[in-house]
Amino acid sequence: MLFKSVVSLAFIAAAAAQATKGKVFDHIFVVFLENTDYTLASTNTNLTSFLSEGILLDNYSGVTHPSAPNYIAAAGGDYFGLADDDYHAIPASYNTIVDLLEKKGLTWKAYQEDLPTPCFKDFVSNDGLYFRKHNPFVQYDSIATNATRCNNIVPATQLATDVSNGALPNYSFYTPNMLNDGHNTTIKYAADWVQTFLPPLLSNKNFTTNTLVVLTFDETETYTIANRVFTVLLGDVVASAKNTTDSTFYTHYSLLSTVESNWDLGNLGRQDINPQVSNVFDIVAKATGYTNVNVTNPPLLNDTIPGFLTVNATGSTGAGAGSPNKPSGASTIASSKVMAAVAAMVGVFAAMI
Ligand SMILES: *[C@@H]1O[C@H](CO)[C@@H](O)[C@H](O)[C@H]1NC(C)=O
Ligand SMILES: *[C@@H]1O[C@H](CO)[C@@H](O)[C@H](O)[C@H]1NC(C)=O
Ligand SMILES: *[C@@H]1O[C@H](CO)[C@@H](O)[C@H](O)[C@H]1NC(C)=O
Ligand SMILES: *[C@@H]1O[C@H](CO)[C@@H](O)[C@H](O)[C@H]1NC(C)=O
Ligand SMILES: *[C@@H]1O[C@H](CO)[C@@H](O)[C@H](O)[C@H]1NC(C)=O
Ligand SMILES: *[C@@H]1O[C@H](CO)[C@@H](O)[C@H](O)[C@H]1NC(C)=O
Ligand SMILES: *[C@@H]1O[C@H](CO)[C@@H](O)[C@H](O)[C@H]1NC(C)=O
Ligand SMILES: *[C@@H]1O[C@H](CO)[C@@H](O)[C@H](O)[C@H]1NC(C)=O
Ligand SMILES: *[C@@H]1O[C@H](CO)[C@@H](O)[C@H](O)[C@H]1NC(C)=O
Ligand SMILES: *[C@@H]1O[C@H](CO)[C@@H](O)[C@H](O)[C@H]1NC(C)=O
Repeated sequence: MLFKSVVSLAFIAAAAAQATKGKVFDHIFVVFLENTDYTLASTNTNLTSFLSEGILLDNYSGVTHPSAPNYIAAAGGDYFGLADDDYHAIPASYNTIVDLLEKKGLTWKAYQEDLPTPCFKDFVSNDGLYFRKHNPFVQYDSIATNATRCNNIVPATQLATDVSNGALPNYSFYTPNMLNDGHNTTIKYAADWVQTFLPPLLSNKNFTTNTLVVLTFDETETYTIANRVFTVLLGDVVASAKNTTDSTFYTHYSLLSTVESNWDLGNLGRQDINPQVSNVFDIVAKATGYTNVNVTNPPLLNDTIPGFLTVNATGSTGAGAGSPNKPSGASTIASSKVMAAVAAMVGVFAAMI
């Protein structure tokens, strides 16, 4: 018995160590800013200053409105009909990119600015800087109810430690706080922050070697236009294509298909395999031999495709596996926090009027 389990542990360790080398990158580092139309972001010089060092994706799109479903889609390949920013916990039967990464022995972390503690699950931190709705991973119970996984959701201060130890994970998702991401502030505030955040990292070999950085926005601010958001690819893997523009139609689902294609991970079988919305970033598609689709009439992606998280006229959501909306035990806290947030927002609106 003991011998057997030692052998199988050794086998697992060996399998993990043999993770397929990425075709184009060994690390991907995704940063989401908030709620900005393409035309506004693309005229900010603190953002455009990165273009000479990277690839502009000028035809990249969010997948719906409001914020939360865009984050959820980027991790799980669908937003399941979600059309709000409330407290959600997607049943543990729903897998994410984390399952695919771990199966191949690849490491991942979600760096969250002002997260009070690793695996913090509440709706908002006391200081109002961290919000659960901008953290895709904690909203999936397949991650949040598994302590090992949940502890990979860390305060962003951990990034400096990881980089200085030469231990950047293979997959990183970075969520700036509510000020730095432009949510409660302006595009200028967010762009100024990016200008302080990215350059030191991009000049550190521990960060930039074999790394693809994706700087993007969750969605447009305006709902009545195509959901096109300013996106730039950086890191030393784009060196040969610096100062170029790629106008292929991409979406947040491309974040998944690109990662899947780079490491040959298989897929989630959701929108990550819908060719109309999941083109693989060209630099990776070229290397892996994936053929992108020339999407002729790209969808605006400014609407909600209904699913089990859609709130219907009765105000209830679909069953899914159990009650996805509010996990038992968390419901009281969650709903009171939602109400507090709603009250705060009403206050903001009242102040604005
Ligand atoms: C994953 O990251 C580690 C640590 O930086 C790196 O050594 C390894 O090459 C990466 N693995 C793959 C398959 O990209
Ligand atoms: C980037 O390309 C533009 C033309 O698209 C050119 O005017 C500019 O000089 C280039 N910048 C650098 C730093 O190569
Ligand atoms: C940001 O705005 C939200 C309302 O959308 C508010 O609840 C939160 O406290 C604000 N946070 C900060 C740090 O201003
Ligand atoms: C929990 O996470 C660990 C490590 O990430 C994984 O190996 C394990 O399969 C997960 N357990 C379940 C029940 O999903
Ligand atoms: C890079 O990582 C190594 C450990 O692998 C560390 O010794 C070194 O100080 C780090 N360099 C920087 C600039 O962070
Ligand atoms: C760019 O950001 C820096 C801070 O990172 C700021 O000092 C500067 O004024 C900004 N430039 C513009 C044109 O907004
Ligand atoms: C999406 O944009 C179209 C075109 O402007 C508009 O007619 C439609 O109302 C928008 N949908 C939403 C949900 O705002
Ligand atoms: C995409 O399709 C359109 C319409 O069929 C065509 O005009 C265009 O040249 C195609 N673009 C590429 C890159 O194949
Ligand atoms: C995005 O690409 C599609 C073709 O795939 C094209 O119809 C559309 O005009 C492009 N949009 C922009 C803003 O370039
Ligand atoms: C709400 O509507 C969606 C889409 O039609 C459906 O999938 C879901 O099951 C419905 N929920 C309920 C409780 O009827």
